[in-house]
Amino acid sequence: MKVLLLGAGGREHALAWRLAASPALDELHAAPGNPGIAALGHCHPVRAEDAEAVLELVRSADLDLVVVGPEAPLVAGVADELRHAGVPVFGPGAAAARIEGSKSFAKEVMRAAGVPAAETMPVARAPCVVKADGLAAGKGVHVCRTDEELDAALRATAALGGPLVIEELLEGEEVSVFALTDGMGTLALPAAQDFKRLDDGDRGPNTGGMGAFAPVGGIDAEELVETIHRPVLEELARRGTPFVGALFAGLMLTDAGPRVLEFNCRLGDPETQSVVPLLEDDLLEALAAAAGGDLRGVELRASERAAVTVVVAAADYPEGRDAGSPIEGIEDAEAAGALVFHAGTAVRGGRLVTNGGRILGVTALGDTVTDARTAAYAAAERISFPGARYRRDIGAEREQRVGR
Ligand code: AMP
Ligand code: GLY
Repeated sequence: MKVLLLGAGGREHALAWRLAASPALDELHAAPGNPGIAALGHCHPVRAEDAEAVLELVRSADLDLVVVGPEAPLVAGVADELRHAGVPVFGPGAAAARIEGSKSFAKEVMRAAGVPAAETMPVARAPCVVKADGLAAGKGVHVCRTDEELDAALRATAALGGPLVIEELLEGEEVSVFALTDGMGTLALPAAQDFKRLDDGDRGPNTGGMGAFAPVGGIDAEELVETIHRPVLEELARRGTPFVGALFAGLMLTDAGPRVLEFNCRLGDPETQSVVPLLEDDLLEALAAAAGGDLRGVELRASERAAVTVVVAAADYPEGRDAGSPIEGIEDAEAAGALVFHAGTAVRGGRLVTNGGRILGVTALGDTVTDARTAAYAAAERISFPGARYRRDIGAEREQRVGR
């Protein structure tokens, strides 16, 4: 099979790494890809959101399957254009991708499907959560415990210009649960936990995610997919907009049971960098089967091991785009047994340099989360560039996590 992967982040590098190991793969292409992916396949200077250019690439290179990593091309309808042209795609059309692109649409679908979600509040009063009603890369959410926090959140959200949603503030353990789906049938992936705040102890601003681990002990991902994802998939199919791809539920496990914080129309980043290395069966076969509309008979078992991913970010993340610093130590980290996924790197003058935001994801496996965590940090320490920063508590005992 000749596969095109759309995207340029750490999630896409992890997918590329796994696809490259598949016996069913003949050629791997990426648009636009990144320097890590370039070591595994052909990267093309094509924007993932540019449906026309992507279709042209598919035709000229005679590709068999397109796997879409990020949300932006999905929400922009790239999967629709490809499907319309008869190209198998792993990733939903724009109508189904609205589950991520619009918080109010997601709430309406969940209500119709009878899936428990955070309740919308008619008026803003602390404690509550203020969310921008559109794509904000996980950064448009403000958890407000005090009136001062609420005032600041309302001002910040108003500055974005669009509509907003006010929600009840839920307390509990947060998990990311992914289902690969052909529109109806599902394969549950190991549940993961993401560390969204910038600083240790879950302090500081929200980010795209500073690290992850998987699996999360005591969580039955298959059962959650049955009770949370499946009714939503049925509702989307009933509306004539079936969801084919990866449906991602961000859940809060409250005392009253799981509550959906958000749905995303794609895999999580950096959760994918922890989940994919745990998979034992052929991921490409599963993605191709889902894209082809029939997952029956496909298995995707996970090993009994654990994985921890530490994101190494630029000094000014999440505010700035600090770039151009030479990166050292990736080979050392790999020699220590870790997987190093590129997220924000570039090659300038033959050197690997930072390219802003989250720069690398360092993943290690172990028999337990603690073992994986020790190995991931031992590897992350070997990587250096000016201003490199990472959290020290990814996958640490939950007692150490204070506040949210
Ligand atoms: P979202 O983009 O909706 O996932 O929100 C980003 C983060 O904000 C989540 O991962 C949670 O940590 C937090 N969050 C969102 N909604 C709520 C809620 N209703 N109650 C508590 N925390 C929330
Ligand atoms: N890590 C959370 C996300 O991908 O949205």
